[in-house]
Amino acid sequence: MEATKPLLDAAAIGDLVLLDPLSEDSLLRTLRERFQRGDIYTYIGNVLISVNPYQPLPIYTPEKVQEYHNCNFFAVEPHIYAIADDAYRSLRDRDRDQCILITGESGAGKTEASKLVMSYVAAVCSKGEEVDKVKEQLLQSNPVLEAFGNAKTIRNDNSSRFGKYMDVEFDFKGEPLGGVISNYLLEKSRIVRHVRGERNFHIFYQLLAGGSVQLLQQLKLRRDCQHYAYVRGESCSLPGVDDAANFRAVQDAMRVIGFSPTEVTELLEVTAVVLKLGNVELSGSYQASGMEACSIAEPQELQEIGELIGLDPGTLEQALCSRTVKARDETVLTTLSVPQGYYGRDALAKNIYSRLFDWLVTRINTSIQVKPGKQRKVMGVLDIYGFEIFQDNGFEQFIINYCNEKLQQIFILLTLKEEQEEYVREGIQWTPVEFFDNSIICNLIEHSKSGILAMLDEECLRPGVVNEDTFLTKLNLLFATHKHYESKETQNARRIMDTSLPPQCFRIHHYAGKVTYNVTGFIEKNNDLLFRDLSQAMWAARHPLLRSLFPEGDPQKASLKLPPTAGSQFKASVAMLMKNLYSKNPNYIRCIKPNETKAAMLFTPELVLAQVRYLGLMENVRVRRAGYAFRQLYGSFLERYKMLGSRTWPRWTGTDRAGAEALLQELAFPPEELAFGHTKIFIRSPRTLFDLERRRQERVVQLATLIQKMIRGWRCRTQYQLMRKSQIILSAWFRGHAQKNRYKQMKRSALMIQAYVRGWKVRRAYRRYFRADASTRLANFIYRRLVQKFLMGLSRNLPPLAVMDRTWPPAPYKFLADANQELRSIFYRWKCKKYWEELPPQRKALLQTKLCASELFKDKKMLYPKSLQQPFRGKYLDLTQNPKYQKLHAVAKDKLVMSDTVRKVNRANGKAVPRLLLLTTEHLILADTKAAQPKTVLSLGDIRSVSVTRFSDGFLVLHLKETSTGAAKGDFLLVSDHLIELVTRLHQTLMDTSAQALSLHITDQFSTRLQKGDMAITVVESEKAGTNGPVCKKRGSHRMEVLVH
Ligand SMILES: Nc1ncnc2c1ncn2[C@@H]1O[C@H](COP(=O)(O)OP(=O)(O)OP(=O)(O)O)[C@@H](O)[C@H]1O
Ligand SMILES: [Mg+2]
Repeated sequence: MEATKPLLDAAAIGDLVLLDPLSEDSLLRTLRERFQRGDIYTYIGNVLISVNPYQPLPIYTPEKVQEYHNCNFFAVEPHIYAIADDAYRSLRDRDRDQCILITGESGAGKTEASKLVMSYVAAVCSKGEEVDKVKEQLLQSNPVLEAFGNAKTIRNDNSSRFGKYMDVEFDFKGEPLGGVISNYLLEKSRIVRHVRGERNFHIFYQLLAGGSVQLLQQLKLRRDCQHYAYVRGESCSLPGVDDAANFRAVQDAMRVIGFSPTEVTELLEVTAVVLKLGNVELSGSYQASGMEACSIAEPQELQEIGELIGLDPGTLEQALCSRTVKARDETVLTTLSVPQGYYGRDALAKNIYSRLFDWLVTRINTSIQVKPGKQRKVMGVLDIYGFEIFQDNGFEQFIINYCNEKLQQIFILLTLKEEQEEYVREGIQWTPVEFFDNSIICNLIEHSKSGILAMLDEECLRPGVVNEDTFLTKLNLLFATHKHYESKETQNARRIMDTSLPPQCFRIHHYAGKVTYNVTGFIEKNNDLLFRDLSQAMWAARHPLLRSLFPEGDPQKASLKLPPTAGSQFKASVAMLMKNLYSKNPNYIRCIKPNETKAAMLFTPELVLAQVRYLGLMENVRVRRAGYAFRQLYGSFLERYKMLGSRTWPRWTGTDRAGAEALLQELAFPPEELAFGHTKIFIRSPRTLFDLERRRQERVVQLATLIQKMIRGWRCRTQYQLMRKSQIILSAWFRGHAQKNRYKQMKRSALMIQAYVRGWKVRRAYRRYFRADASTRLANFIYRRLVQKFLMGLSRNLPPLAVMDRTWPPAPYKFLADANQELRSIFYRWKCKKYWEELPPQRKALLQTKLCASELFKDKKMLYPKSLQQPFRGKYLDLTQNPKYQKLHAVAKDKLVMSDTVRKVNRANGKAVPRLLLLTTEHLILADTKAAQPKTVLSLGDIRSVSVTRFSDGFLVLHLKETSTGAAKGDFLLVSDHLIELVTRLHQTLMDTSAQALSLHITDQFSTRLQKGDMAITVVESEKAGTNGPVCKKRGSHRMEVLVH
């Protein structure tokens, strides 16, 4: 219930189908009630009734657009946006071409409604640079076409004076691609004439009011309406309409559509030419032959026109004032009377303007047309001039009303007749609803043989004197008994007295009321002829646009064939339009005019009732109430809704009808809601349909989720499987590799074990063939061989025999290292021995002494290293040669071991005196140097020990045994330059003679025994010692310091 609340408003129900009780009264009351509340829209099912509020209402805001975007048709207040949304969705989602038929009287709000539909669709379809451009171009075509095709009439300040059908084309996503505009019969008579209180087409006023000074100058125009005959009138400007601003809007719109500046200029130039043509005045005269003639009264305007269109004014004057008539093979120039001249002038102005309007539509189409090859869906919006009943109705009204009659026919056919016929066809139980079928009126007008239009054409083409009287007589004859045709004559025949029907008129009972048409001008307007001279003159102009409007003016293409009449052209285009509309899904907007005075919110019940009647709204409601809101072929129905049934989804194998039945049974709708026709399913109330749609929407979301789920699942699964596969390959390779390595390892080990085992087996098998110690022997053999090789090699490459050379080859095998070392030392010793053996005895003795010295002093006394360089000469004194030493020589004789000069330190004062020292095998003799007289002779056996210092000095103390003969004097302190040699030789001599080693002390502190007791000697290292040996310093009676260096 909630969903349909707006429609079930008790006081003013939103859908007249739900009206109870249904009567003209209640219907009118409801419309009025709603209108007064500001609800100008009401439904009859899906037909929208719109009552013109004549004031701006706040119901077209962007918020409203949002509210109705994808709305549930019956869940929201009736609105034109709901219709537009329904049509757009049906186009986008159901792929059905749509047409929106907007009908109603002049001023009922059709044009406004069409603009609202367009703007709604533009607002809800998707956005994007390209799409926005298309939308803008489509929307901007309106102000341009309105400027050139709309005019103020008594009924409507912005009355469309042409029919417009616009196909907006969309792609499969519902994005607009472009469009095509068709225009129908512009009311061109308005160019030259309009009744009081009306105006000419807006563009003239807009141009004069809004054109810049420069533009007007360029167009040779004056900014004064009253100056121009065609637009002159009591009211040039309209209250609440800013012509200047509108002109700017038109210019902007043309720019948006894609008009080039040149095109705009040319368009305005031609417009100016039309305006100026009205000011071309003619004056009459008589020719010599007595024929009437006319000429231009004031050449200025003609001159300017000529300049504007690039045509010699003379040519134009000739075309306006004379006419070429072809009689047999001759062409004769005949002059025109003033009325004929004016007729020609006006015909030219009308033709230029109407052709210009056609060019304008074609030009707009060029900009908005869709490139061929694209698949498209179409939404057509029809905004045609409304039904008109004037005081004086002419050819235009006849045509306009004919068109409206045809539209009503469509409405009747599709909503009343067709619908009812369909029920019968489909075998649905049905009680017929009476309605007025206007085909009879349509036939009256358009019948190809006996229709009014056919008669008119016949009359126009008939040779001889042609005038409206004969045409009317014909009609009277033909339709004498026609229910919808009346004229003075037929009334007279029926003896009806009607003063409202003048003699020159006929009356048609249209669906919307009786209209009396004055036949005057019918033939002329139907012929729509333009003197050839004029079209040729136009073609001769240099103005590219104007020239292109008159292709028939080209003498090359001149044809004598008459062009089709205006009536037949219109009939053909209306037939085409009808065919087009029949092929689409219709959406109706029926506009109602609430009052005649354009007053805001004024509801005149009588006027509305008349419209309700002729629009057939009552019948519409009745059929709707009795009928079914929705029908569809079983196949399409099943295709669309099969996802709602568990048996029909995803596939139904039976017939479509059985499928639809099974589906609806499962959905459990009340049986009265449904009817099963032969080929179609019928659903009674829109609510059920909306319920179906809602369920479908929900199900589609579910299914979409399912598909998404499956796809995501599939994607993840394949991804996972791929990863798994890769992982398996990786691990297989890895494991394979690891196993291969392991296997190789195992194989190696197995082979080794095998080899051992086999070796062991073989050895065991062959053991008996070998002696038990074969291996040892083999090894020994090998060892021996190696040793042999080594030794042989060594013998061949012995190192040099020089004693000092200690080189020796390294051992070739580790096991020979010790032996090699041993050999090395043997070799060395052997080398030394050899060397030793080869030495002469003196050298040997010397070396022995040196060796002995080394044993005694090496690393003990610092003097020792110095002594290494000194050869131990032993006999430093030449006892044999020097006669001074003869005595000493005699003492020493052959026993002399060493002779030298030493210094003896005085034990009393530490001073040293030189002495000669002789060492023999038995004695140590000290003699004075001058006389060489031995002063002291010590038996070697008396020497207890010898003390020396650690330092590199020559100081020594000879300690004597207490028992010795020389001991009385005490120990001797000596300083020798050959201390090492001396002590060594002393030691050797002792060893040789008594096999006793010399007791040698190498110390820094020792005591000596003197006559007067012991004396402590301290060795002190000092600089003062100098280089010539130690300096002995007596310190007290029992102490002496020996300064050494
Ligand atoms: N929905 C609306 N809201 C407000 N004013 C409106 C609305 N519809 C129409 N009108 C007013 O009514 C006037 C006439 O409307 P419109 O021009 O659409 O009539 P029409 O049916 O096209 O007439 P015609 O057949 O003469 O062209 C508009 O100029 C506007 O002022
Ligand atoms: Mg209009």
